[in-house]
Amino acid sequence: MNLLTFDSHAKLHESGAGIITGLVQTNPRAVLGLATGGTPVGIYEELVKDYRRGLTRFKDVTTFNLDEYVGLPEDHAESYRNYMNMHLFHHIDLPRTRAHIPDGNAADPEAECRRYDQLLEQAGQIDLQLLGLGHNGHIGFNEPDHALISGTHVVQLREETRRANARFFDSMEQVPTHALTMGVGTILKARMILLVVKGADKADIVHRALTGPITTDCPASLLQTHPHLVVLMDAEAGRLF
Ligand code: GLP
Repeated sequence: MNLLTFDSHAKLHESGAGIITGLVQTNPRAVLGLATGGTPVGIYEELVKDYRRGLTRFKDVTTFNLDEYVGLPEDHAESYRNYMNMHLFHHIDLPRTRAHIPDGNAADPEAECRRYDQLLEQAGQIDLQLLGLGHNGHIGFNEPDHALISGTHVVQLREETRRANARFFDSMEQVPTHALTMGVGTILKARMILLVVKGADKADIVHRALTGPITTDCPASLLQTHPHLVVLMDAEAGRLF
């Protein structure tokens, strides 16, 4: 595990984007696993800057997002499809047909999960999986539980997760109750995992996840078993290391 702590968000974002840009430069056909939430926004901004500088091209890249809410229209401001369009996809030359996100409006969500897993299998191994961290240790939308699911599945969101994400919606009632998420097995199969954690409110959970017992009560703790985990933290999140 490679832990890096940054004294400024600008440096953290540049470093995160630099790792992804470097990967795409050496492997133009890279398969990227992408994350949403507040944490990666600055990294996507830097990635777009790198692209505009001509450092990288995405025309042969394939991407898979971790998760999507159930029941939000695709063009809803808070759908993860819309988030990705706004922060990344609309600014780079990634073909829309290779920018995969689970369809949270599929008539048959279980069938959609199987379709997503087939796409992942066809694409082969994810070269780099970008991850944020939930306050309860969730990764993607894999919530703490007595068992974790390996493949893509429908999940009922914990109240604390809905509360944490309510800041993006007008009211708590509008926060979806369910989501589709890539499973922990798929996440752990990635060749490299780039976990990004920011803020004093994540200091305890990132410390517990990376130094505490490996347990399904803290899904991110399973990352300790990954052979190529890189963690980028700001000073506030990293203060317990
Ligand atoms: C969300 C997402 C996760 C994200 C996490 C942290 O619910 N499903 O992929 O990593 O929670 O979000 P944030 O970066 O906004 O703190």
